[in-house]
Amino acid sequence: MKLEEFLRLNAPEDLASLTSAIAEASVSVWDNIPFKSGLLSEVNPSGEKQKAIDVFSNDLFVEALAATGCVREVASEEMAEPVEGKGAFSVAMDPLDGSSNVESNNPLGSIFGFYSKRLPASGRSLAGALYVTYGSMITLTFSFGKGVHRFVATRDGAKMSFELLSVNLKLPDKPEVYGFGGFRKDWITPVRKFVDSLEERGMRIRYCGTFVGDYNQVLCRGGIFAYPQLLKKPQGKLRVLYETAPMAYINEEAGGYASDGSRDILDITPSTLSEPSPAYIGSAPLVHELERMISSEK
Ligand code: AHG
Ligand code: MN
Ligand code: MN
Repeated sequence: MKLEEFLRLNAPEDLASLTSAIAEASVSVWDNIPFKSGLLSEVNPSGEKQKAIDVFSNDLFVEALAATGCVREVASEEMAEPVEGKGAFSVAMDPLDGSSNVESNNPLGSIFGFYSKRLPASGRSLAGALYVTYGSMITLTFSFGKGVHRFVATRDGAKMSFELLSVNLKLPDKPEVYGFGGFRKDWITPVRKFVDSLEERGMRIRYCGTFVGDYNQVLCRGGIFAYPQLLKKPQGKLRVLYETAPMAYINEEAGGYASDGSRDILDITPSTLSEPSPAYIGSAPLVHELERMISSEK
């Protein structure tokens, strides 16, 4: 089944338009990745140096989303202020996740949260979320509250169209993989103890340095991804609005749980657009176990 048909049958109209616009723009992002890996002189609101592909993908997605007429605003980790529109949804995005990995051709991604309230807002006001993977396949993984579904880009004459790959994706019961960001020496003690125990349980390390790529493996094989609270970065690195809440939404729809170490990430109401949070996301029993270990060490 093609994406447009699936959306017509299963998605609210505005979310269908936003998803189609992202799908089409994602192919243009993918086409341009090899030619826009250069570092720019500007930094984003989180103080991180921008790459040409960060800005290119940001501008392309802003234009595509605004053209649908369905956005109240588009906020991005690459922009200080949102772009205003006259539609119903506040879209928060990480237009290119993992841009430090472009040169090494590691997996990259884009993350979108479709919020019903003006931003910043908690993940509880998400009406849907979507992530794109740019890897061996371009895939769209999304949910509008009725299961997690996946489409893959396929050659369709001179253009690319998106074909259905999976419906109602769920985290497997048996957790197989884990990936924790940051330096091991900077992890808080409960995190280090927990990770050591995972190896003893036979789980395998899978860490590519891109949140989308690392989470996608957890969704496919079960387990846990974390960009944890660090001794020098108690708030971790990943941004709630643009990265951890949209992925927590999808993860919860797939039967998982995502925590900032003490509460569900979806319950966080960020005070600023770029506010980060520690992120522990994946198979619910593992994330709850780590949450208990962290709170018992407080
Ligand atoms: P972005 O490229 O959007 O800034 O995101 C990069 C993030 C995330 O994708 C990944 O999990 C994390 O940075 C990796 O951080 P380290 O390089 O510190 O491991
Ligand atoms: Mn990014
Ligand atoms: Mn990112």
